[in-house]
Amino acid sequence: MLDHTNTSLNKKRKTKKYFLCVHCGYVTPKWLGNCPDCKEWNTLEERTDTSKHLSKPLVLQKLADVNDANQQRMTSGIREWDRVTGGGIIPGSFMILTGDPGIGKSTLLLHIAHALSQSHTVIYVSSEESLEQVKLRARRLGCENAPILFSDQSNLESIITTCQNQKPGLVIIDSIQNCYMSDSHLIPGSIAQLKEAAFKLMRMAKESGIAILLSGHITKDGLMAGPKTLEHMVDAVFYLQGEDRWQTRVLRAVKNRFGTVNEIGFFEMHQNGLQEVPNINQQLLAEITYCPGSVLTSSMEGSRPLLVELQVLTIASKFNFPQRVISGADQTQVVLLTAILEKYLQLKLSTQDIFIKISGGLKLRQTGADLALAIGLLSSFFQQTVPEKTLVLGEINLTGHIKPINYMQLFINEAEKFGIEHLFVAHNQKIEKTTCSIRRFKNVYELLALFD
Ligand code: TYD
Ligand code: MG
Repeated sequence: MLDHTNTSLNKKRKTKKYFLCVHCGYVTPKWLGNCPDCKEWNTLEERTDTSKHLSKPLVLQKLADVNDANQQRMTSGIREWDRVTGGGIIPGSFMILTGDPGIGKSTLLLHIAHALSQSHTVIYVSSEESLEQVKLRARRLGCENAPILFSDQSNLESIITTCQNQKPGLVIIDSIQNCYMSDSHLIPGSIAQLKEAAFKLMRMAKESGIAILLSGHITKDGLMAGPKTLEHMVDAVFYLQGEDRWQTRVLRAVKNRFGTVNEIGFFEMHQNGLQEVPNINQQLLAEITYCPGSVLTSSMEGSRPLLVELQVLTIASKFNFPQRVISGADQTQVVLLTAILEKYLQLKLSTQDIFIKISGGLKLRQTGADLALAIGLLSSFFQQTVPEKTLVLGEINLTGHIKPINYMQLFINEAEKFGIEHLFVAHNQKIEKTTCSIRRFKNVYELLALFD
């Protein structure tokens, strides 16, 4: 009797039906003509759940018994890369590097493969380019003879089987969008198949401790169309971006389970590949033109203080609605400071067009730039130059008072290395040590004394 009930139950389970959208992977118990998730028509197909429901029990253990000996990071010696990853790649981590086509992803991946192949087994799957093309690139980078294991196959099952046999420390797949699965009933190249592929890779990374680094494209609208959907699955997402005016490439972590997301790395594209730019501040400073509207400030990018030139232009507006064209700084912050200066100093900034730029295409996000923005606005408004080699750092509150900022000593240490001689700070800013002359300001009224 008991047996009989069990069998019928099992039968019932075996024949469980559901509908799967072959475009996006959406699952529903009822058939629908239009997928509620991806809005595609006629993509829902009937499937039968054949799972046996015979789960193995979990293996439970205490953290003290967990072996973390293989958690040693793989440091490449490419310092800008190591810094952004949080000190090197963690074994078994699953990462994606993305950026515009032609920005240098494959070049960076080859540099990383080269560096790590000295101490680890590295497999490089070039699903996008032929091995001849890869060889040409390797020749430019001078790593033709590195012990990297290459393949230009793009079948994901084969990649996984090979990795499980070879047990490399790192697998690079360039790019994930070019891989396909032969045993999948999802449309090749669709988001659903991309997700399934990523899921399989994620399992492999976690189960066998192989670190996986994928590359992925950004689509025309600036989003990682495919990779965006992978963001929650991977441990880290890195963006390689270009700066228009320079050969500089900026590497950012927008997600990193094993490090901070604020770290950025700088590279320069040369004839023989990407080269690190350890002294970015030197480059930033070399570009400064001391003239009205130019102010030097500093902002933290991860663990490193960057020296940034703020350029402000104010000009009497010809329109009823004066323009505010701001790049690299926060729009609200600028509007607020303009209002503060207008209110307390009775300056007619509201009838001026205001343009603001940050050197090197960087972004200022910190309130410590308030004082520099205010002084920049005044400097352009009065057409008078701020003294050369002056670093300006302070916060301004709504009452027009100037406030001290954090990390001051870090900024000063860095600025002094590059020959900064004067500091403009809040009246009560704590400064432990400096060779610079210090000028202190209590409120915005005192800023007027800088201009005659
Ligand atoms: P690539 O790494 O192929 O970019 P992605 O993989 O992001 O599409 O790099 C493409 C560009 O970089 C290409 O226009 C050529 C240039 N490049 C150099 O200037 N120097 C070099 O040493 C290499 C390898 C590439
Ligand atoms: Mg490429």
